[in-house]
Amino acid sequence: MLIVLLGPPGSGKGTQAEKITSEFDLAYISTGDILRSAVKDNNELGRKARQYMDQGQLVPDDLVVDIVKVRLMDAEGKKGALFDGFPRTVEQAVFLEKALPELKVTLNMVFSIEVDESELIKRLTGRRVCSVCGASYHLKFKPPKVRNVCDQCGGDLYQRDDDSLETVQERLEVYKKQTEPLIDFYQERGLLSPIDGNQDIDGVYKQISSVLGEL
Ligand code: AP5
Ligand code: MG
Ligand code: ZN
Repeated sequence: MLIVLLGPPGSGKGTQAEKITSEFDLAYISTGDILRSAVKDNNELGRKARQYMDQGQLVPDDLVVDIVKVRLMDAEGKKGALFDGFPRTVEQAVFLEKALPELKVTLNMVFSIEVDESELIKRLTGRRVCSVCGASYHLKFKPPKVRNVCDQCGGDLYQRDDDSLETVQERLEVYKKQTEPLIDFYQERGLLSPIDGNQDIDGVYKQISSVLGEL
């Protein structure tokens, strides 16, 4: 089983993924998290990816596709996997489609989380992330119990480098140009499930989990 979370920056992919993977037995594969950890480690992948990420641009397809291949093979033993932030270009989606038979995985559903742009900007500029476990918080919409401390692991919270207003605006443009075409791509294949992401976190989760429960 393979599930994809598709949606603009700040639409709540990471937030929902945390809830989905804790309830359903799915490996969590977030290309954004994997790339950020490579940047932090300053390894070869991180050194190549950093320049793109800092500018709000997409990392080249070949780098991302290699990451995904490895992670999918590691996900054996789980019921399936949940992709957050992959695929993000038509080229990546075509790669995935071709790779599925070989990987013996079926793509069951693509959730397209739709949120108004003004709301996305508020969410991204107020976001804080745990430096240890990666959990997402928001100064107003999802504050931690103790200021700047992760509820789950006690780690320090930080602001992502790409969450400045200027980079957020660039990321939203990149989304429209390079990722939004995937909505039609998956609609045509009968795999798209649109989700109203303007609701609160639990409301969005309810909508997603009711579809997932029926798969
Ligand atoms: P990535 O890390 O995937 O970033 P993104 O797609 O821009 O999405 P975000 O993580 O910013 O948002 P989210 O949807 O996860 O929202 P969240 O749940 O945190 O990618 C980063 C970069 O890596 C890319 O720019 C690119 O360079 C590179 N990259 C990654 N994948 C790639 C790929 N496949 N190909 C090429 N390059 C790739 O929520 C946001 C905030 O809102 C939080 O504060 C949260 O608490 C709050 N919130 C969430 N839901 C709600 C709600 N319902 N109501 C109120 N607040 C909410
Ligand atoms: Mg995320
Ligand atoms: Zn944490």
